[in-house]
Amino acid sequence: MTGLDFTGRAVLAPLTKGGNLPFRRLCVELGAEITMSEMAYAKKVARGGRAELALLRKHADENCFGVQIAAGRVEDAVRAGAIAAERGAAFVDINCGCPIHDTIKRGMGATMMRRPDVLAKMVEAMVKELPIPVTVKLRSGWSESRINCIEVARELEQHGVHAIALHARSREQRYTKSANWDLIAELVESVSVPVIGNGDILTWYEARDRRAASGCAAVMLGRGALIKPWLFREIRESATWEPTASERVAIYARFVELLKEHFRDDEKGRTRAMRFLPWHFSFFCRYRPLPVEPFEVRSREHPLLQTRFPRTESDDPLDRLLEDPREEVHLAIANALWDADPGEAETALRALAADHAPVDDDYDEVAVAHG
Ligand SMILES: Cc1cc2nc3c(=O)[nH]c(=O)nc-3n(C[C@H](O)[C@H](O)[C@H](O)COP(=O)(O)O)c2cc1C
Repeated sequence: MTGLDFTGRAVLAPLTKGGNLPFRRLCVELGAEITMSEMAYAKKVARGGRAELALLRKHADENCFGVQIAAGRVEDAVRAGAIAAERGAAFVDINCGCPIHDTIKRGMGATMMRRPDVLAKMVEAMVKELPIPVTVKLRSGWSESRINCIEVARELEQHGVHAIALHARSREQRYTKSANWDLIAELVESVSVPVIGNGDILTWYEARDRRAASGCAAVMLGRGALIKPWLFREIRESATWEPTASERVAIYARFVELLKEHFRDDEKGRTRAMRFLPWHFSFFCRYRPLPVEPFEVRSREHPLLQTRFPRTESDDPLDRLLEDPREEVHLAIANALWDADPGEAETALRALAADHAPVDDDYDEVAVAHG
């Protein structure tokens, strides 16, 4: 049960679609020490559903891999947790934050913030039955008028929860307001188990400042990791790394190699990988250098992650291509990378960049981006 130590770590958040195995391996290569699965439905896992079981698959490179489940019933959660443990998970996490209708209507995800008694029973049973630690990922509450994460967390602590991650926004808020890090600090004061703070971290200096100000044991990275998976390395080294366009292409080409390894380098593999690869470029394209000067101060004034994408001044056509927010461009980049040998990736994208028509100035990037 012991041995799982979150102190000082940056945890890759559970990310549906984004937390696919090849992307998690990329994050590990770039410094992530704790990774998490996409959310898996406990009931489907318990019934042996193939697609759901695939979400539990861990790679040998992942030293500390947590499986996240969404469960509405205690017995499903215990069974799914046991299967996750058998398959090498280091811990199992209960999703109490998913806002989507499908999850909510089945009494799971963020609904758990309204069913703290069921959640407490679930944690109690899992802690008793499972050989691995149990964590929860909470939201601040269902809505702004029903912020209850502190009382829920206190209750769960009584039932043996190992750690509590808090995405400090309510279900209603989605991504419209910046995460409430004061609430994370309050949670740290209120419980003695480790708290993992989550929300709006895009740079290593924010990870440092947020951790110091809130006292949380660890930080969790969602969109920050999707936009710049090398953020883990920056946080570990407490140093800015602003990869050039060429260096970024090398990272994306490595991701393609990992996708090919996982899905196979054939037509079927390509079809499967293409469900992920262009989508990842809808996050990669949002990368901008955010040097400490002047962005450290600005990040405190405008902490909401999606407000921090300054226009770049680069004249390099490759930069222009990589920052293009349009779906058709992401598809073209993904295809070019898949077709190129790893050593030829930059040449292939420079050829694409040469024919690339820049995006209109009035294109609404934020409206297109996911939160
Ligand atoms: C594409 C995407 C998929 C997500 N999937 C999950 C999920 O499966 N389980 C979960 O608990 N949270 C999920 N989240 C929420 C993140 O884990 C995280 O709590 C949230 O994005 C806030 O962190 P950030 O500001 O660092 O992005 C998802 C977020 C995004 C952007």
